[in-house]
Amino acid sequence: MAKKIRLGILGGGGDSLIGVLHRVAAHINDNYEIVGAVFNPDHEKSIDFAKEIDIPTNRIYKDFDTLVEEEMKLPAEERIQVCSILTPNFLHFPMAKKLLDHGFHVICEKPMTTTYEEAKILEEAHKKAGVVFALTHTYTGYPMVRQMREMIKAGELGKIHKVDARYYQGWINPVIHDPAKRASVWRLDPKKAGISSCMGDIGVHAFNMIEYTTGIKIKSLLADFNYLYDDNQMDVDGTVLIRAGKHVKGVIRSSQVATGEENGLAIRIYGEKAALVWEQEKPNYLYRLSDDEPIQIYKPGNAYNSKLSLDGTKLPAGHPEGIFDAMANIYLGVARAIRKQDYNSGEFPTMTDGVRGLNFIEATVESNKKGNVWVDLDE
Ligand SMILES: NC(=O)c1ccc[n+]([C@@H]2O[C@H](COP(=O)([O-])OP(=O)(O)OC[C@H]3O[C@@H](n4cnc5c(N)ncnc54)[C@H](O)[C@@H]3O)[C@@H](O)[C@H]2O)c1
Repeated sequence: MAKKIRLGILGGGGDSLIGVLHRVAAHINDNYEIVGAVFNPDHEKSIDFAKEIDIPTNRIYKDFDTLVEEEMKLPAEERIQVCSILTPNFLHFPMAKKLLDHGFHVICEKPMTTTYEEAKILEEAHKKAGVVFALTHTYTGYPMVRQMREMIKAGELGKIHKVDARYYQGWINPVIHDPAKRASVWRLDPKKAGISSCMGDIGVHAFNMIEYTTGIKIKSLLADFNYLYDDNQMDVDGTVLIRAGKHVKGVIRSSQVATGEENGLAIRIYGEKAALVWEQEKPNYLYRLSDDEPIQIYKPGNAYNSKLSLDGTKLPAGHPEGIFDAMANIYLGVARAIRKQDYNSGEFPTMTDGVRGLNFIEATVESNKKGNVWVDLDE
C-alpha cells in the first residue's frame, strides 16, 4: 500500500463553504492525510477547528508564511507534499507562487488568481518548479462530464457548430438589495474577489466546461453585464457571446441574481450528427439528442461508458455520483500525478485552464466596459 500523501490546507475553515468538499474528497479514495493547515486567519479558530475534526494541532500554523517556513525545516519525508488553497480569491496568487517556489505541489481553487498578469507569472513559476498544479473546476470530475468529453473526442457529435453553457444562481439576490449586506460580501469586493463577481465566480466554470468537454478553444467574446446598483460595480449577471471559429459559435449565460435558481450549471453542445446535454443538478444523466433517433440517456457505471468516465465511478450503476465524488476524482488524478503514475489529462484541470480562465474573465470585463465590443482571447 502506497503511503498517504501529506496534505496541507489553506482556508477552508469551519466557517467556509468549500472546505468540507475538499476534506471529504481528499479522503474518499484513501490517498491523502491532512497533516498541516491554516484554516482561518485567526489562529485560535484554526486550532479549535483542527480539534473539532480531530487533526493534530502541532502543525496548525498561525499564518501561511509560518507554514512554509516551518515545513521547510522538516525532512522531506515528513514535509507537506501538496497544499490545497481554499481561501478567498486574492490570496490564491501569493500562496500558490510561494508554494511553487518552494517545491510544493498545489491544488488551487478557481479563479486561479485575481488578474491575468498574475496568472502568467504563476505559469512561469510552475514551469520552473516542475511540480503538480491542479485547479479545482469541480464539475470536470463528474463521470458524465468526463463521458461527454470522451464522446466528443471520439467524434460522436461530428463537427461542433453551437455551444451553450449556462450557470444560474440566485443567492446574491437577497444580498444585493440591502446596502449593508452588499458591502459585506467578499465576492462583491474587487480587492478580495478580483475585477468580477459573476464571471469570476461562476462564468469561468461555464467557460471551462465548454473548453473541457469539447477541446475547442474560444477565440473571441462579447459581454453584456448587469450590476443592479451603482454603488456596486461588480457584475452579478452577464451574457457572453462566444466565437471559436467562423462557424462555431455560442453563448455563456451566467447570473447570481437569477431568482430561485440554486446551482444551475448546464451545458449543451450541438454537432452535425448529434448533441449532448448535461445539467449539474441532475449529474447522473447525460442526454444524447439527434435529429432522427429517440433521445438516449447515458448513466454512470455502465460498461458502455468510456474508461475515463468509469475510472470516476466507484460503485455499480444505479448508485448516484455527486459533487463529493466529482471533487474526489480530481484528487485521485492529482494523487496519481504526484506519485508519477499514469493518468489521463482529463483527470484534473491544470495551470493552462487557470490562465485561460483569467484571460476569459478580464476579456469579459473589457468587452463590457468598452460598450459590449468583441475582444480576442490569447492563443
Ligand atoms: N470549485 C468550486 O465549485 C467552488 C465552489 C465554491 C467556492 N470556490 C472557491 O473557493 C474559494 C473559497 O470560497 P468559499 O466560498 O469557501 O469562501 P468562504 O468565505 O466561505 O471561506 C473562506 C475560508 O478562508 C479562510 N481564510 C480567509 N483568509 C485566510 C487567510 N489569510 N489564511 C487562511 N485562511 C483564510 C476563512 O476563514 C474561511 O474559512 C474561492 O476562491 C471560491 O471561488 C470554488
